[in-house]
Amino acid sequence: MRSTPPRQTLLVVAHPRTNSLTARTAARLRDRLTEDGAVVDLLDLYDEGFDPRLTPVDEPDWENRDKLYSPEVRAHADRIAAADEIVVVFPVWWYSVPAVLKGWIDRVWNYGFAYGRSEPRLAGKRMVWLGLAGAGAADYAADGLGAALDLQLRVGVSRFCGIEDATVHLLHDTELSGVPAHQRPARVLALLAQAETAVIPGRSAAPSDRSPRSGREPRPEHRPAPRPQPEHHGTRVSA
Ligand SMILES: Cc1cc2nc3c(=O)[nH]c(=O)nc-3n(C[C@H](O)[C@H](O)[C@H](O)COP(=O)(O)O)c2cc1C
Repeated sequence: MRSTPPRQTLLVVAHPRTNSLTARTAARLRDRLTEDGAVVDLLDLYDEGFDPRLTPVDEPDWENRDKLYSPEVRAHADRIAAADEIVVVFPVWWYSVPAVLKGWIDRVWNYGFAYGRSEPRLAGKRMVWLGLAGAGAADYAADGLGAALDLQLRVGVSRFCGIEDATVHLLHDTELSGVPAHQRPARVLALLAQAETAVIPGRSAAPSDRSPRSGREPRPEHRPAPRPQPEHHGTRVSA
C-alpha cells in the first residue's frame, strides 16, 4: 500500500529585518507546519534577493500565453506549482503588501502560468495571506480598509488565479513600542498563537472561515480585466 505524500507548503516571507515580528512569525509557522507533517519550502524574498522590478522579459505577451519568462521567474513559478498550499507572511504597509511582495506577484504570478488558461494551473491549492498590522481591528473595520485588503488579496489575486480556498488574516496591534517591556513577551506569544490558528489546518476555530474548494467560476483567458464588484464584502480579517 502506498502512503500519501506529505503536503508541500510554500512559506513566503517579506520583511527586511530578520528579528522582526514578521520573521519570527514565519519561523514559528515553519516549525509548526513541519511538526504538522508538511514539507516546507521557505521563500524569504529579502534574503533571496528577489528583484521586484518587472522588466520586459517578464512582461506578459497577451498574444502568447506560453511566453518563456526569465529563469528567475520560472524558478519561482516552479516553487508555486510544487506547493499544495501557499502561506504568505508580511507586514501591512500602507494597507497593502510590501513592494518586494507586490513585485513577486507582478513578476511570478504571470499570464499563462497563474492565470489566462481555461484550466487554471493553481486551482486546488490552499492559500493563506497573513498580514501583521500595527493598527487595531477596530480601525480596519471602521473605514473598510480591512475589507479592501481582503478583496485585493483573496479575490484580486488568489481567486483570480483559480485558488478558491484562500483566506486573509490579520494579526493586529503588532507595534510593540507602546507596550510596557514586561508585557511584550506575552503579547508576542499571543500573536504567534493567533498566527498558528490562522495557518495550520485543523487549528482554525471557525470552519465557516474557510472558503469552499468547489464552485469555481469561469477563468480569465486573457489579461486581467475590470471585474464586477464581488457580492461578498465581508472581510475575513481576524481580530
Ligand atoms: C512603511 C510602513 C507602512 C506601514 N503601514 C501600515 C498600515 O498601513 N497599516 C497598519 O496597520 N500598519 C502599518 N505599518 C505598521 C506595520 O504593520 C508594523 O510595523 C508591523 O506589523 C510590525 O511588525 P514587524 O516587527 O514585523 O515589522 C506600517 C509600517 C511601515 C514601516
